[in-house]
This record gives sequence, structure tokens and C-alpha cells, in this order.
Amino acid sequence: MRKEDLVQVVAIEGEAFSAPWSRNLFLSEFRDPAISLALVAIARGSIREINGYIVSWVTADELHILNLATQRQYRQKGIAKELVVTALRQAFQRGARRAFLEVRASNDPALRMYRNFGFVTTAVRKDYYDLPIEDAVVMTLEKDEYIRLINAPQGEDAVE
Ligand SMILES: CC(C)(COP(=O)(O)OP(=O)(O)OC[C@H]1O[C@@H](n2cnc3c(N)ncnc32)[C@H](O)[C@@H]1OP(=O)(O)O)[C@@H](O)C(=O)NCCC(=O)NCCS
Repeated sequence: MRKEDLVQVVAIEGEAFSAPWSRNLFLSEFRDPAISLALVAIARGSIREINGYIVSWVTADELHILNLATQRQYRQKGIAKELVVTALRQAFQRGARRAFLEVRASNDPALRMYRNFGFVTTAVRKDYYDLPIEDAVVMTLEKDEYIRLINAPQGEDAVE
């Protein structure tokens, strides 16, 4: 993600969330590139048309996924999966041993996607979100489990 992407990123954020991040919040991600891992999905053949993004932090041995969204008309085409795979790979290369995130308890598409990656629910944070008030499900994925799943034979418990 570059600063010049933020007009498009903030527009996608606005249609994706009831309490969207501000431009300033995204800008703060550029302060510490050693920690922040922010990636965009660029439409093939375009001059930097952004279709989705992920914002995460790699601290100590953990990847914390903070924000993820795909532009509405490009959903269910594998963009979020690609963003998550890329963030996981880069974080594991930087030394992360596990990944975690919070997700709204009612967000079935996201819950389903993360479960397919091997994330498991490790906690529930009561009334964590506003607009509307809702619990957060905390999901965690150990690097070793991710590697086991991507190497598992198809049809067993392989990652979809
Ligand atoms: C959640 C979100 C990021 C998924 O983005 P996407 O690019 O459409 O996702 P993908 O096409 O890569 O699909 C990944 C997986 O998510 C799940 N999924 C995505 N959309 C789904 C839907 N409408 N219903 C059920 N499962 C869905 C599926 O498991 C899918 O894998 P599959 O196609 O192999 O079954 C997108 O719906 C979004 O931006 N939502 C609003 C913001 C949000 O909720 N962000 C997540 C916060 S943690």
C-alpha cells in the first residue's frame, strides 16, 4: 500500500464498514514499516486500480490482522484469500509464529474464510464493536498448523 492508494482504499473502506477507518488512521500505518504490513490488490492490466487491501502488524512473533476488505463488485473472486495468503507468507518470513485477528461474530463470510485457512476461535470479546454493538471473535492460526494444512493431501483437511 502506498499513500497514493489511499483515496481508493478509503472509498472501499467506506462501503465495507459501518465504522470505517479514517484516512489519517491509514496514514499512520506508514510510520513504521518494520511493524506495519499493508498490502493492496491491484486489478490486472490496470494503472493501479485497487480492488482490496489488508492492514496488519508484525510484532515480536505475531501477525495481527487489523483490517481487510474487498471492493463490493469484486467480492467472491478470491481477492481476500490472496491478500491473506500473502500477508501470512510475508509475516512468517519476518519471523512470526502465529497470526490472530478479531472479527464480528455475525460476519459469516470472513469467519468462513479464516476457518478455511485453519484459524480457530480462541476467545470472544464481549461487546467489542460499536455500530452495532457486537461481540468480537478472536481467531488464531499457528504457523505450524498452516504449513501442515497447505501440505495436507486434498480431500483430507486441506485448506480450500
Ligand atoms: C470478507 C471479505 C473481505 C471477503 O472478501 P472476498 O474477496 O470476497 O473473499 P474471497 O473471494 O477471497 O473468498 C474467500 C473465502 O471467504 C468466504 N466467503 C467470501 N464471501 C462469502 C460469502 N458471501 N458467503 C460465504 N462465504 C464467503 C469463502 O470461504 C471464500 O472461500 P471460497 O470461495 O473458497 O469458498 C469481503 O466480503 C469484505 O470486504 N467484507 C466487508 C469487510 C469485512 O467484513 N472484512 C473482514 C473483517 S475481519
